[in-house]
Amino acid sequence: MTITDLSRPILPDAGSPLLSLRRVSKHYVMGDSTLFALKEIDLTIQPGEFVAIMGPSGSGKSTCMNILGCLDRPSMGDYTLAGHLVSDLATDDLARIRNQYIGFVFQQFNLLPRTTAQENVALPLLYQREPSVDHASRMQRAKTKLELVGLGARLDHHPAQLSGGQQQRVAIARALVNQPALILADEPTGALDSQTSEEVMQLLQALNQQGITIVLVTHELDIAHYARRIITFRDGQIVSDDAHTPNQDHAVSGGQS
Ligand SMILES: Nc1ncnc2c1ncn2[C@@H]1O[C@H](COP(=O)(O)OP(=O)(O)OP(=O)(O)O)[C@@H](O)[C@H]1O
Ligand SMILES: [Mg+2]
Repeated sequence: MTITDLSRPILPDAGSPLLSLRRVSKHYVMGDSTLFALKEIDLTIQPGEFVAIMGPSGSGKSTCMNILGCLDRPSMGDYTLAGHLVSDLATDDLARIRNQYIGFVFQQFNLLPRTTAQENVALPLLYQREPSVDHASRMQRAKTKLELVGLGARLDHHPAQLSGGQQQRVAIARALVNQPALILADEPTGALDSQTSEEVMQLLQALNQQGITIVLVTHELDIAHYARRIITFRDGQIVSDDAHTPNQDHAVSGGQS
């Protein structure tokens, strides 16, 4: 598994964190009351980590992921990603940083239905500002990523012609197409059966072994056990943050299709 077709974004200096949250809060004003979804969170993640975030429904996991993904801004506190203080950036700059550094994987795959796997994967390249990449190059890069996730034989399939696990692998290929330093996955196995979940987790584990930092949210301990660090949220705060020896029991090599 090699990832060589695009130059990597500039990473922080050796020894610097990939990202850090400093006393980050997020609140929502609802009529007369204010709901604190995150309360003064401190979190530092180094390049190459594989982190699982757990915690009850409503504890702030997705709120935190949205801030980490530059999809939302903190109400208070600082967010630094790869040396950029992103908490103060304007919307356009947030989008640029997001495209440069981050790939997203969602529970519901979020693929365009009337579009082939290859076109779905190529889509984020359309939003790249510089340098403009022609259609043939975009499709070639998408093909490379689909081959990487074991779907080289499914380039022209539409999402409805793929299994759930294959659709999630298309979504992972799409997350990879911009050569991100960081993959954020919010319940990536939430819509998959347990066998397929394991395959997706083994793929994420292999990508992490290639050096990509992964942060994922899950409700399932079996899934969290693939990570090397497990963080638990409760009521908008981090209540535990533990190193973990990842689950290698089912480690496989080679691609699936
Ligand atoms: N846009 C919003 N407006 C108001 N309240 C919100 C908004 N988004 C989230 N919240 C509230 O913030 C809290 C944290 O929500 P969040 O989605 O981060 O939880 P979660 O840990 O991801 O839960 P789940 O496991 O159910 O996905 C919840 O109480 C939620 O109702
Ligand atoms: Mg959530």
